[in-house]
Amino acid sequence: MPARTERFDLFMSKPASDSKDSKKMEELVSLCKRRGFIFQSSEIYGGLNGCWDYGPLGVELKKNVKEAWWRDMVTRRTDVVGVDCSILMNARVWEASGHVESFTDPMVDCTYCKARYRADQVVDGKVVDCKQQKCKLTPARQFNLMFKTHVGAMEDSSALTFLRPETCQGIFVNFDNIVSTSRVKVPFGIAQIGKAFRNEINPRNFTFRSREFEQMEMEFFVAPESANEWFEYWKKARYQWYLDLGLSPDRLHLREHAKDELAHYAAGCADVEYDFPFGRAELEGIANRTDYDLKRHAEFSKKNLSYFDQEGNRRFVPFVIEPSAGADRGTLAFLTEAYAVEGERTVLKLHPRLAPIKAAVLPLVNKEGMPETAEKLCKELQLRWNIFYDDKGAIGRRYRRMDEAGTPFCMTIDGETAKDQAVTVRHRDSMTQERVALSSIESYLAKALEGAKP
Ligand code: GAP
Repeated sequence: MPARTERFDLFMSKPASDSKDSKKMEELVSLCKRRGFIFQSSEIYGGLNGCWDYGPLGVELKKNVKEAWWRDMVTRRTDVVGVDCSILMNARVWEASGHVESFTDPMVDCTYCKARYRADQVVDGKVVDCKQQKCKLTPARQFNLMFKTHVGAMEDSSALTFLRPETCQGIFVNFDNIVSTSRVKVPFGIAQIGKAFRNEINPRNFTFRSREFEQMEMEFFVAPESANEWFEYWKKARYQWYLDLGLSPDRLHLREHAKDELAHYAAGCADVEYDFPFGRAELEGIANRTDYDLKRHAEFSKKNLSYFDQEGNRRFVPFVIEPSAGADRGTLAFLTEAYAVEGERTVLKLHPRLAPIKAAVLPLVNKEGMPETAEKLCKELQLRWNIFYDDKGAIGRRYRRMDEAGTPFCMTIDGETAKDQAVTVRHRDSMTQERVALSSIESYLAKALEGAKP
């Protein structure tokens, strides 16, 4: 049974009614387009609802979010390994997982305006969002959210499968492969980052609810009796991860699900939520999925998916603690938090680990050897980081452009550089400047970027 636990009423409790909030969202969307973070998919053809493209700055930002996750969840740990599974899987996977039967949202159609709404958008027979309030609604029907496709030339039912609606099933069906090839021992985790697809009835709030998105999921396999302990551990660790990367504790919440919200296989679930301008909404769910998934796959595949614990000399089906995050939602939250307008300037105060460009190298003028020194410095630093070279326009305007891109440092090569072999380093957030020797710029940046918390 899939986790369809998202609380849609969160959007109803605090819609983007506050004009300051909706203005902030509009400004952010406009900055994202203007500076090449995020574009509407297929825009020149009128777009495709619920699909988004990341531009040159956006792809770096989202890649950094995913890299931070992978580093903190996989490579900085000794008890988690990674996989990269295919998006298309045997259709039996989705029968075993419960998605074919019940990955559905109840929806209603309006026979008057022909629009389709989720049933929870209907209050007292009216659609909350409807401008006309003249709706003639059909009774609610279940609508499966999986995208269907066919594998091979035949389009009959034997060739039918689905685009994966969550990445974790690839992990469950590879459980035995990993145990028998990777020398992992319970407790251990398997992590994956990848695309997931859901035919959401109402995609909305920019990239927040999309039809194609990326998940960062980790299934942590534990002995049944230690499941509660690990559940507590992962709730804390995941909440802290967002704080460490710059989200404000005032806007970040860990919300425990009420008993009646839990999927029937889950023994516990908590959401990390963020106060977006359009309301408080889920960034990540941490669930105790019990032994449900492995047992279902064992039943449907007729393979033994239990684990032999050599130390305890016993065999059991592990319980699973799952932190499941959305890469696009995380990216949107970091962008929202970072966005600030300070007098004349718009700035993205992104954590240095997430900043798309780590530093800009700027020759003050295009003469007196400055471009040569700047190009040399840029080339050296590019061996390690994404560095931007800009020699166009007044220096103040170049700083502003980098502020909008979220670049933490600008390095200006000026008339003094030839004499003192130093550059002016300008800090994005404080706008303070300091002189740093050319010979120590690389170690200076390494300390500032890689030594940055966490
Ligand atoms: N394997 C569990 C699972 O998929 P989920 O709560 O349905 O749980 C996990 O999804 C995360 O995936 C969510 O917290 C969210 O960040 C992201 N996500 C889910 N649906 C999404 C959508 N339509 N658009 C963007 N992100 C989405």
